Amino acid sequence: MCVLAVRVFLGILLCSPYRCLDCPFGCECFAVTRIIKCVSKDLHAVPPSIPGYTRTVIVTGNSIHQIAPDSFTELENVTNIILSNNRITEMASHSFSALINLRFLDLSGNQLALIHPEALSIPGSPLQELNLSCSLYNFTALTDLTTALRWGGLGGLLRLDLSGNHLALLPPGMFAHLPSLQQLLLTNNSLVAVYSGTFSGLNRLEMLGLTHNAFRTFRADALQELDRLGNTRILLGNNPYTCSCEVRAFVTWLNESRAQVDVDAVRCASPKLLINAQLRGLGTRAIGCDAAAEVPDLGLQTSYVFLGLVLGFVGMVFLFVLYLNRKGMKKWIIEMRDACRDVLEGYHYRYEIDSDPRLGHISAGNARAQGQMGLTRPLPKDARGVQVPADTQVKQLTASSPGNLC
Ligand SMILES: *[C@@H]1O[C@H](CO)[C@@H](O)[C@H](O)[C@H]1NC(C)=O
Ligand SMILES: *[C@@H]1O[C@H](CO)[C@@H](O)[C@H](O)[C@H]1NC(C)=O
Ligand SMILES: *[C@@H]1O[C@H](CO)[C@@H](O)[C@H](O)[C@H]1NC(C)=O
Ligand SMILES: *[C@@H]1O[C@H](CO)[C@@H](O)[C@H](O)[C@H]1NC(C)=O
Ligand SMILES: *[C@@H]1O[C@H](CO)[C@@H](O)[C@H](O)[C@H]1NC(C)=O
Repeated sequence: MCVLAVRVFLGILLCSPYRCLDCPFGCECFAVTRIIKCVSKDLHAVPPSIPGYTRTVIVTGNSIHQIAPDSFTELENVTNIILSNNRITEMASHSFSALINLRFLDLSGNQLALIHPEALSIPGSPLQELNLSCSLYNFTALTDLTTALRWGGLGGLLRLDLSGNHLALLPPGMFAHLPSLQQLLLTNNSLVAVYSGTFSGLNRLEMLGLTHNAFRTFRADALQELDRLGNTRILLGNNPYTCSCEVRAFVTWLNESRAQVDVDAVRCASPKLLINAQLRGLGTRAIGCDAAAEVPDLGLQTSYVFLGLVLGFVGMVFLFVLYLNRKGMKKWIIEMRDACRDVLEGYHYRYEIDSDPRLGHISAGNARAQGQMGLTRPLPKDARGVQVPADTQVKQLTASSPGNLC
């Protein structure tokens, strides 16, 4: 009874009497401040018939699963909508397009799984701030959102909060259609890398929040991408930086870049020796890639190269000498061949003398020619008549089994 009385009293105090009757069920309407509040009332839909004077709609802590196309009717005075923690999973096409003066939209703490490509479209692009902190259900929702940012005509958006969404990677050019963006919060995600193109199109960015992510270092292309942002204040603190030689380019960048970075918060998470050490100013020796470690390597490499050059030179000299001596070589080869042939013929001769009993009585002068003939057929009476073919036969014999004899 008492509570009711207090409520009625407050209601009379806070709303102008003639408007109070218009207030939707489960909501509180404040005509003076032009606020309507529907907080933790277990509503299953955005309340209909919001009073026309309303500037700020606060609907939080309910169970609204879907923002339908007709959830918000024409409300020219609404500039702020807070829809946080409503377990919203789906945003339909043109959900807010009747709110032609909407500047601030807070959808944080929901579970958006389905975002229509034109969910954020509003004629005239009035939206300036979009809070999607802790609101994306999974990676599909991120790709949906990327499309919605592209198709939403969000040319006037100044601030975007995407913190706490477990984001591990950002589609390239995701923000390319937000030309006015000044603040981009990607804090408290699981980002491990920035690529060239990640922040393309952001020419007016003043603040980029990348704290509380999973960055271990920034590679050269990432640093280039950050440099492209110009004068932006970049928050890189509270990441698990691994202070091995891999952070070298990053440390050099921190040392030298004119970018505005929260260098005091950029500290090593490992190895043990360097935990909590500030990255800027770390020496190459401290991160284990000092010159001393590289010089022997380099020396070894140069000695191999030198050895190769020397061997190549010696080989060329050898070939050159061979070339100069080519006549002598030829002569030598011919001599060797002749010597071989002589030895071979002597061998045959001796073999045949030893093995053919019929040759035992032949005189030494005829022995050579007769012996050659004797290999194929019995020796004819007149051996001198077949002397020429005998010579060719020997040549065939030596040619048919080269190498075996010399
Ligand atoms: C918006 O506010 C103005 C000024 O308070 C008022 O005249 C107008 O009727 C309001 N619009 C709607 C749709 O109620
Ligand atoms: C977005 O919403 C979250 C949670 O409601 C809040 O903590 C955060 O400050 C908001 N972001 C901005 C930029 O106001
Ligand atoms: C994200 O969630 C939606 C709805 O549960 C599901 O259809 C989709 O497959 C999920 N995507 C991924 C990448 O898990
Ligand atoms: C980081 O995000 C998770 C959800 O992704 C949330 O539970 C946690 O409170 C956030 N932490 C901070 C410091 O914002
Ligand atoms: C960073 O700067 C410090 C001196 O300020 C220097 O000793 C160190 O070698 C630099 N580190 C790198 C990786 O350039």
